[in-house]
Amino acid sequence: MRFTLIAIVAGLGGLLFGYDTGVISGALLFIRHVFHLGATMQGVVVAIALAAAAVGAAFAGTLSDRFGRRPVLLVTALIFVAGALLSAAAWSVAALLAGRVMVGAGIGVASMLTPLYLSEIAPPAKRGAIVTINQFYITLGIVLSYGVGFLLSHSPEGWRWMLGVGCIPGIILFIGMLTLPESPRWLAGKGRDDEARRALLYLRDGGNIDDEMHDLHQDLATTGKRTPWSALFTSRARKPLIIGVGLAIFQQITGINTVIYFAPTIFEKAGLPSASISILATAGVGAVNVIMTLVAMRLLDIVGRRKLLLFGLAGMLVTLLILSAAFMIGLHGGLALVTVLSVAAYVAFFAIGLGPVFWLLIAEIFPLAVRGRGMSLATIANWSFNMLVSITFLDLVKGLGRGPTFLIYAAMTLATIVFTWFLVPETKGRSLEQIEAALEGDAKLAT
Ligand code: GLC
Repeated sequence: MRFTLIAIVAGLGGLLFGYDTGVISGALLFIRHVFHLGATMQGVVVAIALAAAAVGAAFAGTLSDRFGRRPVLLVTALIFVAGALLSAAAWSVAALLAGRVMVGAGIGVASMLTPLYLSEIAPPAKRGAIVTINQFYITLGIVLSYGVGFLLSHSPEGWRWMLGVGCIPGIILFIGMLTLPESPRWLAGKGRDDEARRALLYLRDGGNIDDEMHDLHQDLATTGKRTPWSALFTSRARKPLIIGVGLAIFQQITGINTVIYFAPTIFEKAGLPSASISILATAGVGAVNVIMTLVAMRLLDIVGRRKLLLFGLAGMLVTLLILSAAFMIGLHGGLALVTVLSVAAYVAFFAIGLGPVFWLLIAEIFPLAVRGRGMSLATIANWSFNMLVSITFLDLVKGLGRGPTFLIYAAMTLATIVFTWFLVPETKGRSLEQIEAALEGDAKLAT
């Protein structure tokens, strides 16, 4: 029970991630009038937060390896609160951009640190579900942002509330983190063994922790403590690095955020009768995302990461092909329905595989000595490609048309299947130390 509460608090970083990336599309409709923004500047308002997230992720690893996971999460929570309030109060474009940069940096740090912290405090048998709390919160944050956007869309000053509301989970995260322990793994890595024991005892509610402490020590003994960036490129870390960065890029270039950020536009162009019905359909897709992430949470530790990932990818491929074909053939009448259904199915398949599994695997596969930095690099790649896909989507649609654009994402999904099939191991039920040993010994530990 105590542990569940801890995970619920620690996962709040994910809620901010989802809310703050999701809210901007709705807020932008107003902001562009208030500040007289052209198309390019609108793009900047969106992209600058994604770029700041990549930078935040770059520092998160080094900072959290040096100062601990907990202090960095505490500071991040404060940055969130300050950024949300500044964007809400923005009196000029510069103030708005400054607020977005702060929020973006916070998202970047949290997106890497939340799964890292969760993976380091979770018992191995439940790690899939615990770490996926992060992705669950992301999807919840996205739906909340759609809901808040819809509710406030009638008041001209509503955008300030949309952006400002983000300070609430920030405050809860801050207060919650004050009560949570530092990661035992990090403490042990710093030679602070007594504190590590105490933290683990607290997390396991006084249960037996000897085995876990033993695993930790063994890992530390083989890994050593020095962690320069170059350690990431040694032969031990190379394979996890390829898997982590590879999945980071594939998670984005298979197109998920074109739907998350632009669904109302896609639906409107497919012929849904009105803007509010498009927004409603978008909210439905957001809900599907949340529900299927919950299903994934139940299945990841039972079915396994690799199987779910492959299953989800296959589904994404089929739905993208249907979507693309529907646009190319130019279905009359049925187009709107086929589009909404295949977009919903595509998101469902993403939510059961590639969405959670990427964030979970990067928290599992790196050797402890370089875990922070490895996750950082994967997260930077994820945000960079998030930005790339988001800023090219509308131009691609304009230049190539919708059918061919979705065909590109389908081709990328096929590439992801091949990549996963040959490279991605099963990590279900193994301790982080066993995963590390196995990745080093045998490249293919697929079960
Ligand atoms: C994953 C992705 C993120 C996306 C979200 C949608 O967390 O990393 O970019 O917005 O899933 O559910």
